[in-house]
Amino acid sequence: MSTQAPPVLQLNQVSVTYPGGHRAATKVSFSLQPGERAGLVGESGSGKSTIARTVLGLVPHSEGTLQILGKMAQDSTREARLTRARMVQMVFQDPYHSLNPRRTIRQALVEALQVSGRITEKAQLEKESIALLEKVHLDAGALNRFPHQFSGGQRQRICIARALAPNPQLLVCDEAVSALDVTTQRSIVHLLRKLSEEEHIALLFITHDIPLIEHLCERVMVLDQGSLVEDGTVESVFHNPSAPKTRQLLDSVLRIDPPQEV
Ligand SMILES: Nc1ncnc2c1ncn2[C@@H]1O[C@H](COP(=O)(O)OP(=O)(O)OP(=O)(O)O)[C@@H](O)[C@H]1O
Ligand SMILES: [Mg+2]
Repeated sequence: MSTQAPPVLQLNQVSVTYPGGHRAATKVSFSLQPGERAGLVGESGSGKSTIARTVLGLVPHSEGTLQILGKMAQDSTREARLTRARMVQMVFQDPYHSLNPRRTIRQALVEALQVSGRITEKAQLEKESIALLEKVHLDAGALNRFPHQFSGGQRQRICIARALAPNPQLLVCDEAVSALDVTTQRSIVHLLRKLSEEEHIALLFITHDIPLIEHLCERVMVLDQGSLVEDGTVESVFHNPSAPKTRQLLDSVLRIDPPQEV
């Protein structure tokens, strides 16, 4: 008999109300299994980043329960807080502003490794920093350089390397490739997919770009005004959407008009 691993992430009827009373998420429920890749789409303002911030513990939820690897997110014991901080990592949209411009890549990676508590021996820190760079297809030559000496795509690879430092089980990517050109987007998405497959990392991939989801995810969820209106396999949702909002989002992708002749 096999014992089933707990979901990496489980939201049960989670609602989020911002100070001032704006309710940005209403009774959102879903769970992610280890290694599962789910896309989260929805119009601007539908609550995608709110969900991301709630999962990261940056915004509190007002109702419902949120569990990470079977542990309650409200659990404020040291162990529960450490589990969340290590197991769930975020990759942001702007790789330049999420790296300190005055610190070398070595400093950024060593700090992330030290914070993770995973590596304590000094001699190991350099080795492990290089291993992190290799995971994102950059070499040790990057260590002495500063963020501005890289392209946007390379900077995003560095952010991913840093996010991998604690050996997370979930990466939350909020518009992580939106600022990049199409070719670079594809290569980052390819990298995320490979990392997820090889290291069994679950992904919650937030984007406006539906075709990217088809490249990366097996599952897609649609948010509409803070409520989850669709959750299914990419194939079923994109070929046979049940919610009117999903149809509308798909139509907006298909309705890219050719440039007008003048
Ligand atoms: N700190 C905040 N305080 C009050 N309201 C907020 C706050 N952050 C977001 N909101 C509101 O919550 C709603 C959801 O915002 P959220 O940023 O989650 O949307 P989103 O789906 O990520 O949008 P986008 O695609 O534009 O990034 C919006 O109406 C927004 O104005
Ligand atoms: Mg957002």
